[in-house]
Amino acid sequence: MKIAVTPRAANLTYAIRDIVVAAKKYEKERGQIPLYLNIGDPIAYDWHTPDFMVEALSKAAKDGINGYTPSEGLEDLRKAVAEKEKKIGGITVDSARVLATNGVSEAIQFLAGALVSEGSEFLLPGPSYPPYIAYTEFFGGKPVTYRTIEEENWVPDLDDLRKKVNKKTTGIVVINPNNPTGAVYDQKTLNQIASIAGEYGLPLISDETYDRLTFEKKHTPMAKAAGDVPVIGFNGISKVYLAPGWRVGYVYFHDQKGELEPIRDAMLRQARVRICANSAAQVAAAVALRSDGSHLKEVVRRMKERRDLIWKRLNSIESISSSKPDAAFYILPKVDLKGRWKNDTEFVLDVLNMAGVVFVPGSGFCATYGASHFRSVFLPPPEMITEAMDRLERFMTKR
Ligand SMILES: Cc1ncc(COP(=O)(O)O)c(C=O)c1O
Repeated sequence: MKIAVTPRAANLTYAIRDIVVAAKKYEKERGQIPLYLNIGDPIAYDWHTPDFMVEALSKAAKDGINGYTPSEGLEDLRKAVAEKEKKIGGITVDSARVLATNGVSEAIQFLAGALVSEGSEFLLPGPSYPPYIAYTEFFGGKPVTYRTIEEENWVPDLDDLRKKVNKKTTGIVVINPNNPTGAVYDQKTLNQIASIAGEYGLPLISDETYDRLTFEKKHTPMAKAAGDVPVIGFNGISKVYLAPGWRVGYVYFHDQKGELEPIRDAMLRQARVRICANSAAQVAAAVALRSDGSHLKEVVRRMKERRDLIWKRLNSIESISSSKPDAAFYILPKVDLKGRWKNDTEFVLDVLNMAGVVFVPGSGFCATYGASHFRSVFLPPPEMITEAMDRLERFMTKR
């Protein structure tokens, strides 16, 4: 007899890690390790957490910061968040209204817990970082994706966004810079999104996880562009500060008249239930946020080189084309399935089994706007990217 579980849990998916199940089967059956280009973890490749952060983490543990912290996070970390947002983003954040989380992932969970209920709709970019879709469904809501326009480097289609707002909508999420497309939105686009949110009295959620990993364009925080429209900002240390395993993220609530207080309270209540974020890592995160960011110059230079390499190679492969990501370390090429594959999942599985390269199906990021695409990271060293592209090229030209 099998024990019954809830459909909401049984149906949970996370395309980025779900593909690993097929990859592990491949490893077991073939006795070979495929090239993993699926996970956005720099530490899995040749990137390192800056030394000063590692030292700060071990010092914190040695100094005895090993107990619980307040549920909203250490006061000093919350102050460091406000200082960083002022210095880098040019926005004023009240440190008393910052919430530290176990990564931005937990912030997404708390957000959905606060805003999504049975029958509500949540507006997300299409394609979108998958947990926004998964948690919306988990809490009984309907994720509604607004189109982003591939031909224009994946900028939001504002008419589509506006069309999809209705009485059931409880929030608008913007992911800028975007995962999986690498798009960076300009201030005008952000103004226009904010004005739609303002018109309908909806909270704007701005995920800024990759704010300092930009190439040609510069990131503008939503709170800077939104005027008096309330913004809930998400950020953390996983990507920009190369410490994804430390699990530290944060949320800031930016409004004029305290309109976001009920949401802050609802997220804080959930935070109390889970006690706190990692204590020693919070201390080290404060050190990271107060640093001069000098590690980023080299990180961005090397990342850009890898972006250029993969973009060029992908566009020279038959039936594959891609726009150029402006930020982060993801690329979302389109593949002409030509009746050779039923959909992008079948394509990605075929690439794994025939070429030994692991990508993520685009439909895992949005069934509508991610279909017929696949996502690759460009974190690996150039030799590994080259090898993966050689394999993909051979695979695509074989009939
Ligand atoms: C847009 C976006 N938000 C949030 C996260 C989660 O990051 P964290 O490690 O802070 O939970 C990711 C991770 O890939 C992401 O791409």
